[in-house]
Amino acid sequence: MSDTALATTFRTHLCGSLRDEHVGASVRLGGWVHRARDLGGLVFFDLRDRAGLVQVSVDLSRATPEVAAVASSLGAETVVLVEGTVAQRPEAMRNAELSTGTIEVKATGLRVLGPAETPVIPVARGKGEQLAAEELRLRHRYLDLRRDELQRNLVLRHRLMQTTRGFLTEAGFFEIETPMLTKPTPEGARDYLVPSRVHPGEFYALPQSPQIYKQLLMVAGYDRYFQIARCFRDEDLRADRQPEFTQIDVEASFVSEDDVMRIAEGLTRALWREAGSEVPTTIRRMGYAEALERYGIDRPDLRYGLEIADLSDVFRGSEFVVTKKALDGGGRVRGIRIPGGATLSRKQVDELETVAKGAGALGLLRIKRQNGALDGPAAKFLAEGAGDRLGLSDGDLGLYVAGPDHISSPALDRVRQEVAQRMQLVPSDVNAFVWVTDFPMFERDPATGALAAVHHPFTAPNPSDLDLLESEPWRARAQAYDLVLNGTELGGGSIRINDPRVQSRIFRLLGIDEASAQSRFGFLLEALRAGAPPHGGIAFGFDRIVMMLAGATSLRDVIAFPKTTAARALFEGAPSAVPASDIAELHIRVESEHA
Ligand code: AMO
Repeated sequence: MSDTALATTFRTHLCGSLRDEHVGASVRLGGWVHRARDLGGLVFFDLRDRAGLVQVSVDLSRATPEVAAVASSLGAETVVLVEGTVAQRPEAMRNAELSTGTIEVKATGLRVLGPAETPVIPVARGKGEQLAAEELRLRHRYLDLRRDELQRNLVLRHRLMQTTRGFLTEAGFFEIETPMLTKPTPEGARDYLVPSRVHPGEFYALPQSPQIYKQLLMVAGYDRYFQIARCFRDEDLRADRQPEFTQIDVEASFVSEDDVMRIAEGLTRALWREAGSEVPTTIRRMGYAEALERYGIDRPDLRYGLEIADLSDVFRGSEFVVTKKALDGGGRVRGIRIPGGATLSRKQVDELETVAKGAGALGLLRIKRQNGALDGPAAKFLAEGAGDRLGLSDGDLGLYVAGPDHISSPALDRVRQEVAQRMQLVPSDVNAFVWVTDFPMFERDPATGALAAVHHPFTAPNPSDLDLLESEPWRARAQAYDLVLNGTELGGGSIRINDPRVQSRIFRLLGIDEASAQSRFGFLLEALRAGAPPHGGIAFGFDRIVMMLAGATSLRDVIAFPKTTAARALFEGAPSAVPASDIAELHIRVESEHA
């Protein structure tokens, strides 16, 4: 964007874009006083706008009384208008760290356009100076948003959004908006509900995703749809989750899994390129079962090894009670080998055990190999040569979890990640993309034993597993895929059911009876009966992508007005109580907290 395009009645240029070529030019600039220094007869200040900083100098001996008065009392973050001439800085005064560091603006005019109270949190920070507490920064978000890091992140977000639009439009997708006030969409979280004033006792739901609408658009013949869609999920928040977040939502007709993955890879490549990074030419694929076996999780971080191995055979026949009990009960003994891990202290291994227990394991069994001998509670129960069979070299530590896979997988995943962090095994310059495929259709609710959809109930089964649906549903695979980067799920999607009879079978298996299917998803079933093409798609977590490409550690650093982990908007103060009369109009009653 050229400066001319951004010139207005107030200004001729942007502060941060002045360069040597402007020396001698008369300029008018508007911006915020970043930092001011009064050296007696000379006032220097950095003026800031979205393009960056430029140094302004005011020679008080030559300035008009009005200009001198303003220059002598400049407070941080005051908005001023500067008129002056661009001059070369003397050699000794150049600042190589600033893109405007070879020039300055000698001011002849200076006017306050927007006075500022002393900012609650500093925008200009010295080198190494800590940021203010996040809660304070969120409370005064308009100040924090002035920080160059957040400005860079939001500008990157904008560019990635335009890249998405450009890429998908070029690939024949139409951008179509879908409603915000809608019916619940099952994506596994709680809904945000909106009471209807005109229909007492009835509620809209804010969409957890545009899933059903995008399928309806395929039925309606639009062939390729996308939307940069806001989604709402009332769930427990973590660093990589927000209650309100943005998806790049994509759906296409007459496609197979390969087609969707190819389009998604193209988009990923375009986004990474926009941010100055590359995606490998081929992204590897790994089946869900393999991911769980080798990494204990369906979104493995492949930047480092520490793979999980099944060591049941080494322990089988031993009288060590923990492993014996697990093996006799049909479980396994699985573990990871930490090369050189024998140097970890007892306390460090105890901490890893706490991590494993936090993920549900009863304990974490340890075996060290030092000077050829094995050391650990189970060691003396093992047969000759067990060290080699466990794959342990001298100086290694093996960590094992005995029990059923649904316990050992999450525990070893957590331990694996923790070890990688602590032993600094995670390379910072590697991007390990992987497609995880062949998800199961169903999982069992551990509490009730009922079947639940792993993805969502509209996901198509693998055609070769259709016969298993009623007889062995847990063995049926879905045509679903997730794109994972460095252990984070960037996006996920599937081929959808386009045969209403199959859709009804899936609802039945999920325990959704005819009447309930009709009232919750009748409009989808009806549409599927009207001639639905084979279709499928994917949704990327846009905030997560921006976070990774910006090198940020929190979604809050790439969202202009985010919520806290307690789902509060601190600046606006939402959620908030509303007048009783408004509540009454909505035909609902609020029970007081103490009632
Ligand atoms: P899914 O629920 O996997 O799929 O969501 C797609 C992607 O959205 C991101 N995501 C989130 N990002 C921030 N905060 C959250 N609370 C949050 N929840 C999810 C993740 C995730 O991979 N309708 C399907 C997609 C489809 O089948 O096409 C869906 O919504 O990066």
